[in-house]
Amino acid sequence: RIMREITGISRLEAQLKAKMGIRKVVVVPGDSDKSPWVKSELGNACAACMKDALREHDIIAVTGGSTMAAVAEMLPADFGEKNLLFVPARGGVGEDVKNQANSVSANMADRTGSRHRVFYVPDQVSSQIYESFTQEPYVNEVLGLIKSASMVLHGIGDAITMAERRNTNEADMEKIVKGKGVAEAFGYYFNEDGEIVHKVQTIGLQLDDLESIQHVYAVAGGFSKAKAIRSYMKQAPASTILITDEGAARNLVQG
Ligand code: G3H
Repeated sequence: RIMREITGISRLEAQLKAKMGIRKVVVVPGDSDKSPWVKSELGNACAACMKDALREHDIIAVTGGSTMAAVAEMLPADFGEKNLLFVPARGGVGEDVKNQANSVSANMADRTGSRHRVFYVPDQVSSQIYESFTQEPYVNEVLGLIKSASMVLHGIGDAITMAERRNTNEADMEKIVKGKGVAEAFGYYFNEDGEIVHKVQTIGLQLDDLESIQHVYAVAGGFSKAKAIRSYMKQAPASTILITDEGAARNLVQG
């Protein structure tokens, strides 16, 4: 704690919390753009926050990405005593396998000796498929579990980086570029004002659902992600807890 005060981290946290109007901001030292191990520190900080909030039989919905994959590695085995269930927050949003929400959720369950459910639905489903899919008993059951999650863990990405990483088709790419997308979370793309410029149509949690979820943890760090974090936080529910690093935080307080 004394270290955090000397280095000004506590002040950074308070400034950002006020600026963004969210429940809490946790800043870990370092910059994950420069040092990959800082992602593990984000994971540790996320685990510490979760510990205080977790209740017996909680359902935890998680998104994909390399930050979430790092969080999974840091979850302590004793979470398993709480009989948790991990589920992916949304159907596939085009990540490669190790960074997919399904893998992250399975990994979190593995680490903590908890249960998990997979949710294999195609990327970017058409409206027609969406309708018929949600009528499948298996999809419907998992969807019900996802919607009753009391905790959500998600990453935030830079819009163009994410769209490219997901091999987004030309038309959607154009929509994101023309709409001046800067941030991505849950398969939603946002401009600098936090307005949605594109949304990957998939089954699972929708942005509006976050409002009614008790514990929402956004985990994202690195100097280069500040713009994306700033944008998304304009849209984020007030209950959000942001777990970030000094690299992003120092950039965020300036803008
Ligand atoms: O939705 C945002 C991305 O999942 C963030 O991915 O953690 O690999 O930067 P990343």
